[in-house]
Amino acid sequence: MYPLTELRRQILDEMGVDVWSLRDKSGVTDVDTIQPAARTQEGTRQPAVNNESGADWLSLQNTVFSCQACKLAKSRTRTVFGSGNSNADLLLIGEAPGAEEDRQGLPFVGKAGHLLDAMLYAIGLNREQVFICNVLKCRPPNNRDPQPDEVEACASYLTAQIESIKPRVILALGRFAAHRLLETDLPVYKMRENSNCLPGTNIPVVVTYHPASLLRNPEQKAESWFDLCKAKSLLEQSSP
Ligand code: URA
Repeated sequence: MYPLTELRRQILDEMGVDVWSLRDKSGVTDVDTIQPAARTQEGTRQPAVNNESGADWLSLQNTVFSCQACKLAKSRTRTVFGSGNSNADLLLIGEAPGAEEDRQGLPFVGKAGHLLDAMLYAIGLNREQVFICNVLKCRPPNNRDPQPDEVEACASYLTAQIESIKPRVILALGRFAAHRLLETDLPVYKMRENSNCLPGTNIPVVVTYHPASLLRNPEQKAESWFDLCKAKSLLEQSSP
């Protein structure tokens, strides 16, 4: 079991969880040695990190950077490709950039992002160990819901990211990500209960509430904690 540091205790309290233990910590940085909320600049103007697919990854970043495939190209400030470890075992997928993400060109850097950092930290991970991206790479005006034509226009980017990263586990943050990945329109609470795999693959997709939803509905945090532990456990089971 990881030692319960004061910071971690506070995070677990905040998530509505008293005590937590891991069966095995193979392959994962110890919670006491990691730095919280480290952020890379990947996804901003200069593509920073290559993954094992090398040139393809770089070319994908450049394509997204200059994308004009839908009307959001006109209203966005920056595209948000994603950030983190482009060879990560765990891929987190959200909905779409908000105002702060649009300004910085990085995913989950607003309030919901701070909660996401804390949630990752609580399971012994940080942003440099996972990859975080969104279904949409551009911000919908006034944070409205993504529209079907926008999801369609961005679909090939997310598919290419998944194929390139080859994650062992995907965590779908909220209904838009889950619907896009699982090709269903079930409500989140239903998808949470199921054992899902990305269609056509054996990559498990753990569905959980979007961090912004957790900010509005803190009573969902305990369920979300359960989902994170499930994702962590699947990661451990899939470690070579
Ligand atoms: N919400 C998302 O779904 N993605 C972000 O990057 C920020 C907020």
